[in-house]
Amino acid sequence: MADYIIRDIALADYGRKELTIAETEMPGLMALRDEFGTDKPLRGARIAGSLHMTIQTGVLIETLVALGADVRWASCNIFSTQDHAAAAIAQAGVPVFAIKGETLAEYWAYTDRIFQFGEGTANMILDDGGDATLYILMGARVEAGETALIEKPGSEEEEALFAQIRKRLAESPGWFTAQRDAIRGVSEETTTGVHRLYDLHKKGLLPFPAINVNDSVTKSKFDNKYGCKESLVDGIRRATDTMMAGKVAVVCGYGDVGKGSAASLRGAGARVKVTEVDPICALQAAMDGYEVVTLEDVAASADIFITTTGNKDVIRIEHMREMKDMAIVGNIGHFDNEIQVAALRNHKWTNIKDQVDMIEMPSGARIILLSEGRLLNLGNATGHPSFVMSASFTNQVLAQIELWTKGDEYRPGVYILPKHLDEKVARLHLAKIGVKLTELRPDQADYIGVPVQGPYKSDHYRY
Ligand code: NAI
Repeated sequence: MADYIIRDIALADYGRKELTIAETEMPGLMALRDEFGTDKPLRGARIAGSLHMTIQTGVLIETLVALGADVRWASCNIFSTQDHAAAAIAQAGVPVFAIKGETLAEYWAYTDRIFQFGEGTANMILDDGGDATLYILMGARVEAGETALIEKPGSEEEEALFAQIRKRLAESPGWFTAQRDAIRGVSEETTTGVHRLYDLHKKGLLPFPAINVNDSVTKSKFDNKYGCKESLVDGIRRATDTMMAGKVAVVCGYGDVGKGSAASLRGAGARVKVTEVDPICALQAAMDGYEVVTLEDVAASADIFITTTGNKDVIRIEHMREMKDMAIVGNIGHFDNEIQVAALRNHKWTNIKDQVDMIEMPSGARIILLSEGRLLNLGNATGHPSFVMSASFTNQVLAQIELWTKGDEYRPGVYILPKHLDEKVARLHLAKIGVKLTELRPDQADYIGVPVQGPYKSDHYRY
């Protein structure tokens, strides 16, 4: 039986063509193949990967394989898979479990499948949002007797997760604990997953070292910002074809993703307003020229609402009840709980097309909800472009090499890659876009107190 679950293997040719194009836009990953392809530092690593199964991720997967790793893969969101990418990767012999539009039950079953290496267990996790890590750690705690953890699901997601944990416990007692103990480390892609890791560590529940890839400068200050700058409006357009110019758009949150999202909408001609809870980010938004408002102020008048906070219950049912007819509501943060979608379930839904729904509110006004509140740039479009994902994924590969080859030197905890590697990632992306770097003269280096070859900034520099 084929060791993959995808939409259609016949899409592999199309996927391969796009993978080949993506490689030309991902110089960081290709440079790592050149640098480490012979030494194969990931030999022996069995990586359970949970990250949007896109074309760009395909190039990441094939880089990990080129460096010697065994890899199994699932998407970290039910809507984010590109079926042709999954097909090309499956065709190349990497077990992939990902279908665009899979159910939540399938999602957790696929998450389980990425740990099912023939040899028994995975020994590394590459995570985006923390679900693969959560699955193993929660399962092991339940196995250790904390059965109350899976008794009261608070959402559809949890219901599906708890059912999958019960299923695995019944089929293979002791499996979660053995799997947890075999993990040498995890590298985590995104802000939300990183929050989860710090929280686990604070509670003494993180048993292995983790590398926070998100807070490499060449990740969060690029992918989260410039990535969303391109992919947010792309998602809204593919979903709705609405005229953006002149519309009033509200961006909730002005962190890295919020900054990119606001710029995306402004670039498309929308009049953008921002909501924030943090006075520093609110001040930044104002000084970048956005009006900073509360959602209550603008719920009834704005045309487009986007959440970027990584927080829960940001757009609530009382806000949506006030919205005008055909307001567009979407989220680009990691999880779907930024918008109270569950509270809309008892209203009348009309499906317009995949990942686009029209919902009739009691007032008679309709709202257009994108990707059922899941991250819309990957649900309604194809996520960030390859070039910026190359920077993110170069950090991922360096993190996997670090944990696999030097994991023993790390105690359980959450770490960030050293600055010289961050600068290396940036350096690998300069030539592609014709950037000519000025070389520091030795006396200048002395004067500002940095080595000629870098690192050029202290760890607390904020960029
Ligand atoms: P961040 O921490 O830099 O920004 C979030 C901002 O939201 C903060 O400034 C915070 O003060 C603000 N905020 C929190 N609660 C709020 C509320 N109730 N109302 C208004 N503002 C509020 O985080 P970052 O890196 O911007 O990530 C945000 C989310 O996007 C995370 O869930 C992250 O995982 C996800 N993400 C999604 C990507 C995508 O391609 N869709 C790419 C990268 C990150």
